[in-house]
Amino acid sequence: MTVEDLNSKQVYNLLERAAYFKNGGRKENFKRQINVANLFFENSTRTKLSFTMAEKKLGLNVFPFAAETSSVQKGESLYDTLLTMSAIGIDLAVIRHPQNNYYQHILEQPGSKLNIGLLNAGDGSGQHPSQCLLDLMTIHEEFGHFNKLKIAIVGDLKNSRVARSNMQLLKKLGADIYFSGPSEWFTSEFNEYGQYLPLDELIPKIDVLMLLRVQHERHEETEAEKNFSEIKYHQQFGLTVARYQKMKSSAIVMHPGPINRGVEMASELVEAPRSRFVRQMTNGVYMRMAMLEAVINGRHIGG
Ligand code: CP
Repeated sequence: MTVEDLNSKQVYNLLERAAYFKNGGRKENFKRQINVANLFFENSTRTKLSFTMAEKKLGLNVFPFAAETSSVQKGESLYDTLLTMSAIGIDLAVIRHPQNNYYQHILEQPGSKLNIGLLNAGDGSGQHPSQCLLDLMTIHEEFGHFNKLKIAIVGDLKNSRVARSNMQLLKKLGADIYFSGPSEWFTSEFNEYGQYLPLDELIPKIDVLMLLRVQHERHEETEAEKNFSEIKYHQQFGLTVARYQKMKSSAIVMHPGPINRGVEMASELVEAPRSRFVRQMTNGVYMRMAMLEAVINGRHIGG
């Protein structure tokens, strides 16, 4: 459920399998119909659609679930929701939830006989494994390796599950991590993974600029939040056209989406030659196919 559960060999296997799917490789036929439901308790466009596309490409049976019309509204817990799904015949659940480590409660339920595979589609500000793996796929396509690549993760670090998953796995794979953005969003937990430097110092020397969305919905109602200025943020911490022009010609720009245009990134740079924003979303389908297949094979339910 977190990227720390993955070793390097497992990551490279997933990268290889995702590339195989992207290059037109055919899926293996599962011996029986696999049933899956996507449980999103937080808003999503790309993760939910991308998992759904991946499931359909793998030939899985996708069952609709809408949190707002489910019995969760009557107070049913996530564990009991999954118990219900498992009893009905759902094999896999893809879950996005606002609570960090929501899965701990499921995994540690006393006396549990729950029989369902889980994929974490994002937990609060904790982890976003599928986004991390599609980001790794995008970087690997570009450079063919991770060793000693200089990767800057910039912006709303404190609230970002994307930052946490990426810094953990990229460090394990040998990349050099740097951080930048408002200093109040750089907390002590990041020191273990990389160095905090001013953005303008990083721009000319990095290989990958990974911008993070400013997540106002997770911010407290402080004076600083009330006085937040998009223009000032963009000037101080965003990718302006001037900064883009100072990057190495081989460097790439990434953003997990959704983008606050004109804040993290100048609007005209979203589809610029060095931006990989669109490719990240395309790669997400193939990486999620690889992840779903690995879980199906790991649970020996596919054949
Ligand atoms: N990157 C990402 O998780 O986007 P969504 O919230 O649209 O799924």
